[in-house]
Amino acid sequence: MIRIKDWKLLLIDEDDEARQALSAFLADADYSVLTVADGESGIELCREQSPQIIITEINLPGIDGIEVLKTIKKAYPYSEVIVTSAHNEIENALKSFRLDAADFITKPINEDTLMAALERAKKRYNNQRKLQDYTVFLEERWMDTSEELAKIFSFQERLIESSIDGIIGCDYDRKIIIFNNSMEEMLGYSKDMVSGKMFFYQLFSSREWERFQDQLYSEELGGEDKLFLSESILISKKGEKIPVRLSAQVLLQENEEIGLVAFFRDLRKVKRLKQQFLDQAQYLHQDKMISLGKLAASVVHELNNPLTGILNYVRLMIKILGRGSLSTEQIHKFQRYLDLVGSEVSRSSDIVSNLLAFSRKPRMEFSEVNIDDLLEKSILLCKYKLTLQNIQIKTNLYPKIPTVFGDFNQLQQCLLNLIFNAADAMPDGGSLTVASSFFPHKGLVEIKVTDTGRGISREDLSKVFDPFFSTKEEGKGLGLGLSVVHAIIDRHKGTISAESTPGKGTVFTITLPVKGKVS
Ligand SMILES: Nc1ncnc2c1ncn2[C@@H]1O[C@H](COP(=O)(O)OP(=O)(O)O)[C@@H](O)[C@H]1O
Ligand SMILES: [Mg+2]
Repeated sequence: MIRIKDWKLLLIDEDDEARQALSAFLADADYSVLTVADGESGIELCREQSPQIIITEINLPGIDGIEVLKTIKKAYPYSEVIVTSAHNEIENALKSFRLDAADFITKPINEDTLMAALERAKKRYNNQRKLQDYTVFLEERWMDTSEELAKIFSFQERLIESSIDGIIGCDYDRKIIIFNNSMEEMLGYSKDMVSGKMFFYQLFSSREWERFQDQLYSEELGGEDKLFLSESILISKKGEKIPVRLSAQVLLQENEEIGLVAFFRDLRKVKRLKQQFLDQAQYLHQDKMISLGKLAASVVHELNNPLTGILNYVRLMIKILGRGSLSTEQIHKFQRYLDLVGSEVSRSSDIVSNLLAFSRKPRMEFSEVNIDDLLEKSILLCKYKLTLQNIQIKTNLYPKIPTVFGDFNQLQQCLLNLIFNAADAMPDGGSLTVASSFFPHKGLVEIKVTDTGRGISREDLSKVFDPFFSTKEEGKGLGLGLSVVHAIIDRHKGTISAESTPGKGTVFTITLPVKGKVS
């Protein structure tokens, strides 16, 4: 805002004397004064010099004072015009005021009247300028504000639109006004079909809607007017039921309900993830079934031997008994036979219970696991199969190895997988070594399964733990074994690695943390 120190004043009067007298008086009152004798020159000078105040006589040669007033006010609305007249013409006075003159003064001009009129004109001028500045200021602010608003709005819009969660906003009547991209994707409606046209409750079955309303207004689940994480079902455009997790809030303004906003997450996605997790458990089971399938044949063979022995002894004893009473020598023989039968039966029973123990499908059960026991039972299960394949079994066990904390059954599954792979790598026989060691400083036990098989190429070595990676012909391998081993060892906070020399053999090394501190 400009403060005016130098007031520039233009005096238009045909009368030279009057002009000069007035001009001297005004200059004395600190105005810088311009003077002209006619209206046209006055208007011209206004344009050139922009005086703030103009004093014009009504009666002028050429255009008259009223016309001058009209023109100046139109071109420079902020300048103030005082009209003077030799006659007290009420009509001209009225005309002047109607054209926004600052004042109307009758000649001869009284100096006090003029000074008062000038003061008023100056005040008017200043006020007008103030008002103008303020208007400009307001306009600028408005521009800023509206720009700001537009920015915030577009930011919010982007926020709503890019949200992974579905967002619905509705007014008091539950008419939908916001329906974001995720909602479109979830329900198959486009914004145009929904916004301002559909009602919120049209997306629910009537039962679900009732339940939603109940929960929203009840004290539970987030408090009154709020709903925190509940589950419901929405109906898609095609009529499908979409399971969702939702939270919602009533929008209030001065305690009046003005609308509702709700957030939705598509539970089908969550369920898909859960399924993937379940599938993993499924793999574990599937892998175990494969192991059992592989064992079945060899176990049948393994049982066949003792059973054949038992049968032979039993038959022999029946035959002897058929010949009449037993001699003392025969009774001794019978005792020996029955001892053999007993030990064969207990061998068979061991095989069966070992297999049964492995085939159970218990939940993960962590307990103290004795490594010797683990290796022995695992070898026992495959022993016959390996022998049939001409594979020598060697063990190299660390004496008094500490226990680990783990799931016996699952660790056994790991060892069986490694042993089976080793056996597959040695179709023409070879040797398999199962070794254990203990590293007290690291607090780790280590189990190594070494074979003298065909080995693994460098390229394949990086892939062997990938699910479904298999180099075996169809029906022989699913490629699940090692990925299951990896998952199980991971869960035991252990590690597994493989080293191989193609043509020479392979070593798989498992490490497991020991349970507690060992003295
Ligand atoms: N001891 C081993 N010797 C040679 N190759 C092996 C050995 N263990 C695993 N492999 C390779 O790793 C692949 C993946 O093993 P695995 O995950 O158990 O699946 P599968 O035995 O069903 O093929 C095998 O197909 C084989 O190529
Ligand atoms: Mg395998």
